[in-house]
Amino acid sequence: MHSASRTAYNASISLPESLARSRATSRRFFASVLAIAGVLGAVACEEESQQAVGMTPEAMVALSADASLPDSLLAGRAVFETYCVECHGEAATGTEKGPPLVHRVYHPGHHADPAFYLAPLQGVRAHHWRFGDMPPVEGITRDEVGAIVAYVRWLQRKAGIF
Ligand code: HEC
Repeated sequence: MHSASRTAYNASISLPESLARSRATSRRFFASVLAIAGVLGAVACEEESQQAVGMTPEAMVALSADASLPDSLLAGRAVFETYCVECHGEAATGTEKGPPLVHRVYHPGHHADPAFYLAPLQGVRAHHWRFGDMPPVEGITRDEVGAIVAYVRWLQRKAGIF
C-alpha cells in the first residue's frame, strides 16, 4: 500500500513534467519552423532586390548607353525625366526613393509592358523592394507612358537584361 501510493505520487509528478517538456519541445519546434519559413520567404523576395546593390556594372552600362540614345527615344527620355527620374533615377538606374528599372526584376518576361502602363496610372504597392509604395503619377497620358516604355526597354536591352 505504501509502495502503491509512492508510485501514484511519482506518476503524478512525472506526467505533467513530461507533458510540459513535450509541449516546450513542440513549441520550440514550431518556432523554428516559423523562423525558417520566415527566412526562406524573406530570402526569396529579397534575393532579387538585394542585387540592386550589386548592380553597379549594369547601371554603368545603362548610363553610358544613354549617351548614344537614338533620336526616336528622346521624347521618351524627356517624359521619363519629367515624371519618373525623381525616384527611378538618371537612365532608370534607381535612387534612394525608388528602384532601378534597368534591372532584371523588370525584364519584360517578369514585368511586361502592361505593368509599365499600370504603374503610373494606379501606383504600385511595395512588393519587391523597401522603398515604399509608388504613388500614381498625376497627369501622365498613355502615349507618354508608351514613350517611356520604349526608352526603358532600350536601356534594359543595352544593359544586356534581354
Ligand atoms: C515617388 C517615387 C516614384 C515615382 C515618381 C515613380 N515611381 Fe515607379 N516605383 C516607385 C517605387 C518605390 C517602386 C517599387 C515598388 C516595389 O517595391 O515593388 C516603383 C515601381 C515601378 C514599376 C514596377 C511596377 C510593378 O508592377 O512592380 C514600374 C514599371 C514603375 N515604377 C514605373 C514608373 C514610371 C514609368 C514612372 C514615371 C511615369 C514612375 N515609376 C515614377 C517609385 C516611384
